Amino acid sequence: MATGNKQSPRLDYLLAASSARMDRWRELNARALAWAAGARGERAAVEAALAEVAPLEDFFAYPGPRLLKTLADRIAADDAYGVGRLVRRLSGSMLSGRYRYDSGDWETADDSADHLPDRVPLAPGGESHRPYFETLLVTPWPAAQRAGIAQEIRRLRRNEDAMIYEPVLVGSVEDAILGTILNGKVEAVVIYDGIPVPSQHDVPLLREVLASQGLDTSSLVPREIGVALARIIKRIRPELDIYLLTDRRVEELAGDPAASMIRRVFYEVEELMEVHLNILEGVADRLETPHFDNLKRYAARPISTFHALPIARGKSIMKSNWIHDMGEFYGLNLFLAETSATTGGLDSMLEPTGTIKRAQEKFARAVGADHVFFVTNGTSTSNKMVYQAVTKPGDIVIVDRNCHKSHHYGMVLSGAQPLYVEAYPMTEYSMYGAVPLRIIKRALLDLKAEGKLDRVKMVTLTNCTFDGHVYNTLRVMKECLAIKPDLLFLWDEAWFGFARFTPFLRPRTAMGAAAALEEWRASPAALTAYEAQAAELGEDLDPADPRLLERSL
Ligand SMILES: Cc1ncc(COP(=O)(O)O)c(C=O)c1O
Repeated sequence: MATGNKQSPRLDYLLAASSARMDRWRELNARALAWAAGARGERAAVEAALAEVAPLEDFFAYPGPRLLKTLADRIAADDAYGVGRLVRRLSGSMLSGRYRYDSGDWETADDSADHLPDRVPLAPGGESHRPYFETLLVTPWPAAQRAGIAQEIRRLRRNEDAMIYEPVLVGSVEDAILGTILNGKVEAVVIYDGIPVPSQHDVPLLREVLASQGLDTSSLVPREIGVALARIIKRIRPELDIYLLTDRRVEELAGDPAASMIRRVFYEVEELMEVHLNILEGVADRLETPHFDNLKRYAARPISTFHALPIARGKSIMKSNWIHDMGEFYGLNLFLAETSATTGGLDSMLEPTGTIKRAQEKFARAVGADHVFFVTNGTSTSNKMVYQAVTKPGDIVIVDRNCHKSHHYGMVLSGAQPLYVEAYPMTEYSMYGAVPLRIIKRALLDLKAEGKLDRVKMVTLTNCTFDGHVYNTLRVMKECLAIKPDLLFLWDEAWFGFARFTPFLRPRTAMGAAAALEEWRASPAALTAYEAQAAELGEDLDPADPRLLERSL
């Protein structure tokens, strides 16, 4: 594999790309201002700061190659004042997000958009804009042609498009992967057949991360590159819509389950407008919010709801002598949208068949679940529901003593008995860690020795803990299941939900690990590992065997 461009700074801040980018722009801004203010020798510092900024900018639509070239030209022309103005305008627009709707910010001439950065969010009722996103195009074309192609794509825009996107063009498999990691505004990826693998950048960390996840790009077979890239991107950002443009095997690919992560396969010669419309339709489908859309329609209907008659569509509050401040605090819409969980035009929370059901299905897809059930009253109620659904009086639950109190209430309701396990203290930091796996295994093995393993139903752990410690969820489940194969796990991720949406934390979530575990259990390697373990430790693990705590199961 090529080692990348030695001139280019290493791109190795995969975990904090956004702040790394902003830091570099801040530095460029400071250097440009100093130069504009007449500081001697600052031109070299500006050039050095721009060289730090430039590699990352290949993965973002704004400022883009055209504006960055203008900046480089002004530096070359010794126009310190012009450089200062342009850098201030570009960083201001990036900070406020104004480039998403203000075409003036894309102009190379300064006077078109020389205003102060707008950092204040739009007030309710203020100007609204079409949602903006970026589309990553992975093409084999040389960099010199990319500006023309981007322009061609922009010409596809129509006034009636509900959203607007900017193209970001990259030229290799590794750059495509970097683009999806670094640029959170990317919502769709279009892959052309025939792209090379290595990045033009120096990316040792990317290769290390990919290899650690079993996603080695160096072994890709040229014919399979498009589909293989789609598979890698889907692992990293499962929500993205992926399109493949190829001139080979289109019908075969379209029906191939191995290519199911690709939303649509196009012939390369097919009209670009088709691709454009598909991109917009794919994102619109994900943006759709069936329950909220219905709620807005419902609130606009001039009908009082039987279940909330005294609210009188907000009138009894807004006109009240005593509580109109409550109406002012929450706003009228809250009262116009008042309904019941049972019936009344908004589907039913108790037995959803309409928009709530569709919203649940969409939510399930977004979080990678088989099913999602919306509940009222938060995680506390969800936890209590789980205990009542899966445990009965006398069942044993191995539970982290530092768990949220709703778990105790859940066990009181279901009659399950807790067996508490302790997290390790970290006194020097005044915090607790997680429950060591050794302690959980010990608890299971002790119960087995006492002949009570059949009563153990579930293991409850807090992930991440209240002090921010994250479990190796996959390993915990693997090892516990080796001792009791029908064990259930309640991973309380009440405030770790965001982890699903970062590729680096997802494997540490319950569902990320469950997916990996299912994949592993179905693999021949799992059977081989099981047979090797059975040969060494026996099929029925002996709880008195000290090796069980010393090694992975
Ligand atoms: C780990 C954990 N579980 C459950 C809960 C309860 O969540 P809710 O307040 O949504 O009922 C919390 C809230 O603090 C929590 O941190």
